[in-house]
Amino acid sequence: MNKLINCLNKKESCLPIWFMRQAGRYLPEFRSIRSKNLNFIKLCLNSNLSSQITLQPLKRFDLDAAIIFSDILIVPFGLGQKVEFLKNQGPILSSMNLDDFLNTKEENFINKVNPVYEAIRITRKKLEVSKSLIGFVGAPWTLLIYMMGLKQNNNKLNSKILNLKKKEISLIMEKLIYFLKIHIKKQVEAGVNVIQIFDSWAGLIPIKDMNKYCYEPNLKLVEYCKNLKIPTICFPKGINKKYEEFNKIVSPNALSIDYEIDPIWAEENLSSVIIQGGLDPNILLKEDQKIFLAAEKYLKTFYNKPYIFNLGHGLLPETNPDKVSKLIKFVREYD
Ligand code: CP3
Repeated sequence: MNKLINCLNKKESCLPIWFMRQAGRYLPEFRSIRSKNLNFIKLCLNSNLSSQITLQPLKRFDLDAAIIFSDILIVPFGLGQKVEFLKNQGPILSSMNLDDFLNTKEENFINKVNPVYEAIRITRKKLEVSKSLIGFVGAPWTLLIYMMGLKQNNNKLNSKILNLKKKEISLIMEKLIYFLKIHIKKQVEAGVNVIQIFDSWAGLIPIKDMNKYCYEPNLKLVEYCKNLKIPTICFPKGINKKYEEFNKIVSPNALSIDYEIDPIWAEENLSSVIIQGGLDPNILLKEDQKIFLAAEKYLKTFYNKPYIFNLGHGLLPETNPDKVSKLIKFVREYD
């Protein structure tokens, strides 16, 4: 029995648990590896280490799924951009050479990213059959945010660049979708059971452009996964009530809600889709009783329904792993 897959397919009452960013900086065992591997992209491309990191949270916690340790920016890296992670600054990408980008050969991309697929193969062999292995991609818009520097330091959209480079962005978007499909297919062939599509910056899209930059590209990727018979979880973070329109148009197997979405609203307005997540990751920095009370709101709202327990965004680096343990125990006892 694979709890997450059953939940995604059968739509019966179920409560699998996993967390976004469950493999990461809040775990001392991750920090120990990271301190010896200063180049983050290189670490993602070290198949043995990234498999080991993927499995770290499953050794500690009673989770139903592992998510492969990689990054959404591995795709722009595979397409020729230099990707650097500077401390406290977030990712920095070198400027893109449009011609080189548009002429990237499939074979070159696959060769560069191949260690990720190898990490998936290694991990799938080590993972119990009852556990899912989640593969993922960034949605085109969220990748464009980093690839084109569309986000200002204050996390607002740089609409000047967006307006000036409309044509270029359309071309890049189309090519990105082509390569994201390849990246999805390769992850599926290597052994992932589910694909999550992260559109973490969907909230920055001007309302009039939602179709072009959010619904259509997400739909293309979800349809591609449907053809591969692989379930999808979409995370269009920050789009508020537009989650409803997103669901109608894109119709993934599950929708990951962010912490701004009221679970009761989601239960009423997104009833055709399985809901994942929602709980504010900041709550895990508080006292146990506050954590349980906040989690209970989600558990009560989705009681006796299919619901994937997760957060409304990734676990924060300052989270105490003991709090994660306690939260999982609380959810299991509620089930
Ligand atoms: O455990 C997991 O979730 C699997 C691995 C994973 C990482 N990044 C590892 C990582 C996944 C699924 C991601 C997705 C990702 N990466 C997203 C979408 C989800 C989200 O958080 O919104 C985005 C926007 C990125 C881009 C990215 N990568 C940023 C902005 C940063 C720096 C700051 C941050 O948020 O951590 C990264 C680096 C990164 N990716 C780290 C990890 C563990 C931290 C690396 C470090 O400094 O040690």
